[in-house]
Amino acid sequence: MILPIVAYGSPILKKEAEEIDENYKDLDKLIANMFETMYEANGVGLAAPQIDKSIRIFIVDASPFAEVEEGEEPDPMAAGLENFKKVFINPIIEDEEGEEWAFNEGCLSIPNIREEVMRKPKIKISYYDENWEFHEEEYEGYAARIIQHEYDHVDGILFTDHLSPLKKRLLKKKLTNISKGDTDVKYRMKFPIKKGRR
Ligand code: NI
Repeated sequence: MILPIVAYGSPILKKEAEEIDENYKDLDKLIANMFETMYEANGVGLAAPQIDKSIRIFIVDASPFAEVEEGEEPDPMAAGLENFKKVFINPIIEDEEGEEWAFNEGCLSIPNIREEVMRKPKIKISYYDENWEFHEEEYEGYAARIIQHEYDHVDGILFTDHLSPLKKRLLKKKLTNISKGDTDVKYRMKFPIKKGRR
């Protein structure tokens, strides 16, 4: 089932989400719905708060990054991403290291805005997968970047929170318009501000 994606300005996106345990009801169904919702919106990551659930779970499928156009060289930063499809439950970023690098990020909750965000290139993360197996893994490049972005969501942080005060001021009007549903989007969304009737 495709779920509506919560738009910028919704309080749930600013809230620290709660851990879940193995008794969480219909988790398989929730995960399946999250993948369906993410694919429909052409996303590479989706966190539960974005579908209006304040729980610490996010999914990623970075295979689009690994696609190589004819005549193009494969991107070394995308190495190994063809099969990078995962579910992260109760994740903890244990460590981040390296010199921060800029990457143009977007977010399904903030359509039609992309901005350069600085983050460290290497992370170590622990989490449970959809079968409640525990993992501790290291990632770098695009994989790390997607995880950092989604991990922020379960902590109530958006990529716009990482921007400079000036950049934020310049985006203010556009962000308010998104909250009102005043944006061109091809997938189902839920907007926090209802437009007044005329
Ligand atoms: Ni996002």
